[in-house]
Amino acid sequence: MAAGASLHDACLATLPTLRGTFGLAAISPLEPEKLVIARRGSPIMVAEVAGGWIVASDRAPFAGHAESCLSLHDHELALLEPGSMKVNSPTGGSLARGLVAVGIDLADTTPGSFPNFMAKEIHEQPLAIRRCLAGRLVADQIHSAGMRTIDEAIGTPERIVITGCGSAWHAGLIGAQMIESLAGIPTEVHVASELRHREIPVSPGTLCVAVSQSGETADTLEAMRELARQGATTFGVVNVVASALAQDTDAGMYLHAGPEVGVASTKAFTAQIAALALMAASLSPAGAKRTEFLRSLANLPDAMARAVETETAVRRVAERLAGEENWLFLGRGINWPVALEGALKLKEISYRHAEGLPAAEVKHGPLALVRPGLPVVLVAPSDHTAEKMLGTIAEVKARGAHTVVITDGVEPRLTRGADDVILLPAVHRLLSPLVTTIPLQWLSYHTARILGHDVDRPRNLAKSVTVE
Ligand code: G6P
Repeated sequence: MAAGASLHDACLATLPTLRGTFGLAAISPLEPEKLVIARRGSPIMVAEVAGGWIVASDRAPFAGHAESCLSLHDHELALLEPGSMKVNSPTGGSLARGLVAVGIDLADTTPGSFPNFMAKEIHEQPLAIRRCLAGRLVADQIHSAGMRTIDEAIGTPERIVITGCGSAWHAGLIGAQMIESLAGIPTEVHVASELRHREIPVSPGTLCVAVSQSGETADTLEAMRELARQGATTFGVVNVVASALAQDTDAGMYLHAGPEVGVASTKAFTAQIAALALMAASLSPAGAKRTEFLRSLANLPDAMARAVETETAVRRVAERLAGEENWLFLGRGINWPVALEGALKLKEISYRHAEGLPAAEVKHGPLALVRPGLPVVLVAPSDHTAEKMLGTIAEVKARGAHTVVITDGVEPRLTRGADDVILLPAVHRLLSPLVTTIPLQWLSYHTARILGHDVDRPRNLAKSVTVE
């Protein structure tokens, strides 16, 4: 590059030589009125405000300052000058890019009357689900532009591959069970980082569903892109508007859960389940089964509000058990992923070792860990798995475990002899994760608070993991 090149040309020439992920803003003392921004793997966005520009890696700083913003794509470069913004493709050609609404209120950027964001976001779940369903579920009918796009592109998918990381993977495991039960479409779920190491057969009828709160998780993006390269149609279930995943998929459904600030996912997780429930119903044939499911889904926010009220009862459990270093979480069927999620939350926020397992697997090894006093949390609604859960409860109880049973009270035998019982409203079998998850969020929350941890910013973790 010739000496004396402009800031813009210098960046254009240098960017292809950079390695790794970044969102960058470059300035030069020679051109103090100019700013160049670019991204690869990490978000960077810009909004115009009176007297200049705000550049950020998230939309939250724009709240109260700007109505709309531009979210850059990977490899693009934008040159900002007073009153003008030019977006260039990686080769320097100019691009016309639309702005997106900031969509964040100032109130979203503080915990308000709550002690922290996690408490606020747990409380917000009924509202988040209402927002996710609003306009999409009307009088037992589903209206989703994303699902219409899929229908036009491939009709009914032959096969669905769901992918995501962390809580999003757990939501995918739940969504797959809903899709198979309602729509009868073979559905598999893979942790995104592992999906890339497999050689999954992909046909033109394969639909890849990538689930992500941030829409920026590197492993999820790469797994989705790999299946797209092989010919799959891609669908994003994403919270953050205009994120990389939202931009790169063929179609999608935004969660509309509102900004999630706490590092450990709460309201985005339940909104992901609700969005996947809509997808499952949308793919299923019309009939009584679908109508019953959709009516139950419409009523779910009320049941979730009652689940949020379990806080005091759960806090008492946390007070008794916070000193325990090791925990087991067990569930069956649609609540097996909820057991995984309960264990993940406890690890993330409370720094306690916890394992989530399909309940029957406990006898294939982990039973050796069960000793008097070990906390075993059993997610056990009164569904077709209840009879088998009774056996699991008896098994761990016989070894002296401290049992915490999360149930709905319809099958009274599930609560007999339990050390602690958390009672929830009874809901549709396939939708129970939307309520059973909530006391588990409170359990990790209160355990962490008792132990003095920062629930919003747990050690070593990031809200959005943009490295592979
Ligand atoms: C991080 C967060 C988790 C989240 C996961 C996936 O590890 O701490 O709470 O579940 O990323 O994030 P995503 O934004 O893709 O849903």
